[in-house]
Amino acid sequence: MGHSYTAVGWNRQKKIYDRLLVGGILAYLAIFVVLGFLLHPDATAETLIIRALGTGALLLLHIILAIGPLCRLDSRFLPFLYNRRHMGVAMFVLALGHGAFSILQFHAFGDIHPILSVFTSNTRIESLAQFPFQPLGFGALIILALMATTSHDFWLTNLSAPVWKALHMLVYVAYALIVLHVALGVLQAETNPLFPVLLGLGAAGIFGLHIVAGRREASADHEQAIGEADSVDGMNQLCSVQSIPEKRARVFTVGDERVAVFRYDGKISAVSSVCQHQNGPLGEGCVREGKLTCPWHGYEYLPESGASPEPFTEKIPTFRTEVRDGQVWIDPQPLPPGTATPPACFTQESLDV
Ligand code: HEM
Ligand code: FES
Repeated sequence: MGHSYTAVGWNRQKKIYDRLLVGGILAYLAIFVVLGFLLHPDATAETLIIRALGTGALLLLHIILAIGPLCRLDSRFLPFLYNRRHMGVAMFVLALGHGAFSILQFHAFGDIHPILSVFTSNTRIESLAQFPFQPLGFGALIILALMATTSHDFWLTNLSAPVWKALHMLVYVAYALIVLHVALGVLQAETNPLFPVLLGLGAAGIFGLHIVAGRREASADHEQAIGEADSVDGMNQLCSVQSIPEKRARVFTVGDERVAVFRYDGKISAVSSVCQHQNGPLGEGCVREGKLTCPWHGYEYLPESGASPEPFTEKIPTFRTEVRDGQVWIDPQPLPPGTATPPACFTQESLDV
């Protein structure tokens, strides 16, 4: 868990990240093309540019997909998460450049429409070695285009969080299409085994990271799940007040819901731990200036009502809580998002007894 979270705006740090991102991409492209000329003097500039853009996009996509699970495993990776959307848009620009140059190079000079030619120039779907791999890349590019154009918070608000999230989960479909596009494309053209080996290692790394992070989360959920046996008068005993750090939360699984129980200024409030922005882990955030603050991008919620402060309109479900003899109790029935419920109050002396 990190110690301080900074809401994301156009701050100096973010500008530095963006400059590093653009500088890194330009350096990668330049090194790829220069090394390509030195190692393969007969290669054309078009081929090297196509390859530099394609591999650059794939490399960035691996970084983007690794950031989510890495943040779940270690909060020191959170600063990368803040810049993930810009990385995504940069990756799309590289992929678009790669696709556009490829279409220009391989499909622009026939007598059928270049885009139609991507789908009709090779129809040998029965052959693994000759498989039409370019339509797979085209499919991925359409998904990446949808994601890049809806990446702004304007679309998040207008499409609603669940629809936006579902749309952006398509990145895994795009990734699978790209892995097939590259594997089948490389099988056709490349004799150097380095490429398939790197691709295999990259895919195994992404898969492995997601499994490890998912397992870690599932076992944390299991450990923190509340027991039916503790239910008294419709309330469940959760934990001692002392076990929750001041201005922080502990997360419990209540039914199917992850619930964040925050302790602040002699009060306890419980809300859904799923942030309305991008489903970030609100329970790993902190209480800052009286507001529950999501660690991912700094969205804020009032602890008593689960509503974002004006002029924002996000709302999360709240839960009734009580403190009895230094123990936190919760009503497992969630209240509708944004419903005000008084926090449970305690005094330090009552805990010391
Ligand atoms: C309209 C969409 C696309 C078309 C027409 C297309 C076409 C091609 C072609 C013709 C090649 C072989 C190039 C060569 O051997 O010189 C290739 C390879 C490759 N493509 Fe794509 N592609 C598209 C989309 C994508 C996307 C979205 C990505 C991913 C981010 C991608 C990543 C790659 C990579 C990494 C390679 C292997 C490196 C290379 O040989 O360039 N492609 N693609
Ligand atoms: S602020 Fe973005 S997920 Fe919570």
